[in-house]
Amino acid sequence: MDGIREIAVIGLGYIGLPTAIMFANAGFNVTGYEIREEVVEKINSGKAHIVEPEIDELLRKAVESGNLRATSDPEEIRGKDAYIICVQTPLREDKTPDLSYLESAVKTVAKAMKRGSLVVIESTVPPLTTVKMAKLIEELTGFKAGKDFYMVHAPERVMPGRIFKELVYNSRIFGGITPESAEMAERLYRSFVKGQTFKTNSTVSEVVKLMENTFRDVNIALANEFAFLAHQYGIDVFEAIELANTHPRVRIHTPGIGVGGHCLPKDPHLLLWPAKEDFGLIKLAREINDSMPLFTKDLLFSALKELNVPPEDATIAVLGLAYKGDSDDTRNSPALAFIEEIEGDVKAVKTYDPFVPGTSGSVEEAVENADAVVIATDHTAFKSLDWEKLGKLMRTRILIDGRHVVENPPRGFLFKGIGRGEF
Ligand SMILES: NC(=O)c1ccc[n+]([C@@H]2O[C@H](COP(=O)([O-])OP(=O)(O)OC[C@H]3O[C@@H](n4cnc5c(N)ncnc54)[C@H](O)[C@@H]3O)[C@@H](O)[C@H]2O)c1
Repeated sequence: MDGIREIAVIGLGYIGLPTAIMFANAGFNVTGYEIREEVVEKINSGKAHIVEPEIDELLRKAVESGNLRATSDPEEIRGKDAYIICVQTPLREDKTPDLSYLESAVKTVAKAMKRGSLVVIESTVPPLTTVKMAKLIEELTGFKAGKDFYMVHAPERVMPGRIFKELVYNSRIFGGITPESAEMAERLYRSFVKGQTFKTNSTVSEVVKLMENTFRDVNIALANEFAFLAHQYGIDVFEAIELANTHPRVRIHTPGIGVGGHCLPKDPHLLLWPAKEDFGLIKLAREINDSMPLFTKDLLFSALKELNVPPEDATIAVLGLAYKGDSDDTRNSPALAFIEEIEGDVKAVKTYDPFVPGTSGSVEEAVENADAVVIATDHTAFKSLDWEKLGKLMRTRILIDGRHVVENPPRGFLFKGIGRGEF
């Protein structure tokens, strides 16, 4: 395998730690380089700092075999055969990409690498970034890209909650700055990847990753626009979508309170950022999805008005803080954006999320004396709530469903749901 034995993984978060574990358990000698010292300590004691099925067992195996060690000391990643960069690539306040983590990681790698090293960027990056980072390495080392070192963008497609399955069975793309770079990375990853593998250049691979998430974001925006229309026409958009999806070539996505998580809200911005022109559709889709917490607020406030509850006297119980069902991940969660929208206008906001610490101890505690309940996450447990019982604890019975969790509106409630136009 091109003589690759020693690997450094840079950044041990949701992507980097599982990747480091997979390579270690495939027999490579892996050093995980991470700037957060508390994370390094935890990993070296065999404990994961992220929640993910199977991770504790697989991490323990990797650490006990001696194949995985974490460090904050850049000296310990000197002269490795391959470097795999998995640092975060978030947006700044003004929605432009913050590539400072990536640049700092590339500089660390440039100092540590040797002639012949393979450098892989797994982070999601704006188009043309891998080529720019290869130039940065050339400047810092005097090495020539494609001759003295090899460089690849290998985007990650895993979904939290299924990471260890998807790392093995998802298909992977290797975008090399030269064909030889892509071939080298493909051979390396085949040590544990059983899905299909494809080779291309680094800019295509960057665009492919960003197109995938933009496709999803734009389609969710379309579903949200269908939901707005359902309110105009007094129909249930979910019934309409189910029927439309019986067409063999139609698959409409699911409308809801908004789009969250680390990737979907940012990747369309990364895709557009280096472009010289603004083409409109992708940006508009982002704006529609970002407006959904405000639309949910409108549903809530119209219900309060119907029942003559002044918003400033109202206590609102929000069920679910995570951005997706059965997860504890609150990054960019629309539930939090919704709370921010209403906080100054209502008397009090109570929250309950069985996966998120710091919220009410039970759903009963959260809804007690509330004037309205707003469902913001589709946790499985919320699908079987006893609304008759919960209604008795509430001061005013308003139920707002932002995630299509409640199939049949409960009796005795004023019910409003996103896209549920007939109620
Ligand atoms: N989380 C996902 O589900 C997912 C899926 C596909 C792609 N991605 C992409 O993968 C990348 C990583 O995402 P993540 O969720 O793992 O992020 P994360 O924030 O969980 O992990 C990044 C880690 O890198 C560390 N770090 C930052 N700068 C460093 C540096 N210079 N040197 C060493 N360590 C450094 C951070 O401390 C952190 O632990 C992002 O570009 C993201 O868009 C994420």
